[in-house]
Amino acid sequence: MEAFSPYFLSLLVLLLPLSIYLLLFIRKTGITESRKTLPPGSNGWPMLGENMAFAFSGPHKFVEDRMRKYSPHVFRTSLLGEKNISIFCGAQGNKFIYTNEQKLLTSWWPQSMKKALLFSESVQSNTNIGISALKRSLHREIFKPEAFKRYIPAMDALARDHLDHHWIPNSTVEIFHMSKKYTFELACRLFMSVVDPVQINKLSDPFTFVTDGMLSMPVNLPGTAYNHAIEKGETVKREVVNIVTKRRNELMMNKETEGRDLLSTMLLATDEDGRFLSETEVSNIIIGYLAASFLTTSSAVSVVMNYLAELPHVYEKVLKEQTEIAKSKKPDELLTWEDIEKMKYSWNVACESFRLMPPAQGAFRETTKEFTYAGFTIPKGSKILWTVHSTHKNPEYFPEPEKFDPTRFEGSGPAPYTYVPFGGGPRMCPGVEYARLEVLVFVHNVVTRFKLEKAIPNEKVVIHASAIPAHGLPVHLHPRDK
Ligand code: HEM
Repeated sequence: MEAFSPYFLSLLVLLLPLSIYLLLFIRKTGITESRKTLPPGSNGWPMLGENMAFAFSGPHKFVEDRMRKYSPHVFRTSLLGEKNISIFCGAQGNKFIYTNEQKLLTSWWPQSMKKALLFSESVQSNTNIGISALKRSLHREIFKPEAFKRYIPAMDALARDHLDHHWIPNSTVEIFHMSKKYTFELACRLFMSVVDPVQINKLSDPFTFVTDGMLSMPVNLPGTAYNHAIEKGETVKREVVNIVTKRRNELMMNKETEGRDLLSTMLLATDEDGRFLSETEVSNIIIGYLAASFLTTSSAVSVVMNYLAELPHVYEKVLKEQTEIAKSKKPDELLTWEDIEKMKYSWNVACESFRLMPPAQGAFRETTKEFTYAGFTIPKGSKILWTVHSTHKNPEYFPEPEKFDPTRFEGSGPAPYTYVPFGGGPRMCPGVEYARLEVLVFVHNVVTRFKLEKAIPNEKVVIHASAIPAHGLPVHLHPRDK
């Protein structure tokens, strides 16, 4: 005991201050309190987080496995360089997020994504109250569902032209490549009246690198997908700001007083003090819309085509609906809003395609207050993700979830907060109507002109930022008699 005492005493002398320091630190940071109650889960490997697991297993399995392992309501992970992201799950989780916008949550996108896409100086202008209000009111104006109705003839004309030039001369086409071409060209035309194919390619080629890399691991080293996204993002920004500046000069020369497209509408709008948006502010909005619509709508068109090529009984029913519409029109007469309203079965087919192969995977939020959810603490300033993967294939909400069954969308359709390809609540995708029109117009043109046969019968569709056919979905075309 005597031999033990000095040793014990010196240990006490060493440990006591350390324990007091730890206690004070813990009390100050509240670390035990939040650790104890943070949602269960793992931040994975240092630096890498759980990105590898997410990439290897795919988002659906990643979410499903962790719901089983940790909690069906919410679990914690680390993705895209962000630790302690809480993934909210199930219809209840979606409902919580969609109904607490502004009260507890605000939108958040990874810094890496903003860096690749936007002019940073104009991201900061979001703190200017007048300019923020102007952006919000422009956004409401641009995304009024009625505003999109006038796009239908232009969408139809471009779809016809696209099939004449890129499908008719070929016996086999790669659908994903074609749908990217069609959707990007359409967006350039409708948003900025850019129709010159050379100018469109100058934008679309680098844009593909940006969308491929902006949601990858944010490692900016030569050769990484993120590095490509940053580099090509500079080209995109330069091209878009040139288009914006040219249009501003035209407007200043009084060539135009009314908005002929989204771009002019934005350049002509002023805030309460008569201030216009700067060229980089307008460029950021346009690039944001291009980014939000490009991969999502090209994936949407591709996954619908995938099922039309794969399921003859579905194709035949869609063809019947579309042929009746085509027969009610003169050969050169373009589609109208009334025609779109008749495409009910075709839209149900698209909805079922998006359930099984979602064009977008979910969205982030940042918490503005600390709160408790399902018994766990969600700290202020932490990141949250809602995802389509906790409900779309959940047999509780969709019996026989792997079965392709468009009748799920008949009548009142799926239960609230279970079918969420476009999100829900005040932040629900404002482009949903644009996407619906674009997909239906394309389906009309394709099925009335071609029968499709998959060139790779069991081609997989991989789901990362969007659902993408592994080999681009090559199909053999069998032209129909007109
Ligand atoms: C099939 C195609 C599309 C899908 C599946 C889709 C899906 C989504 C989703 C899931 C969100 C996030 C909602 C949230 O934060 O909870 C979103 C946001 C957004 N989408 Fe779409 N989208 C599509 C097409 C489009 C198109 C064509 C446009 C523009 C013309 C567009 C513009 C936007 C914008 C501006 C936002 C951000 C809204 C905000 O933060 O308030 N989207 N979209």
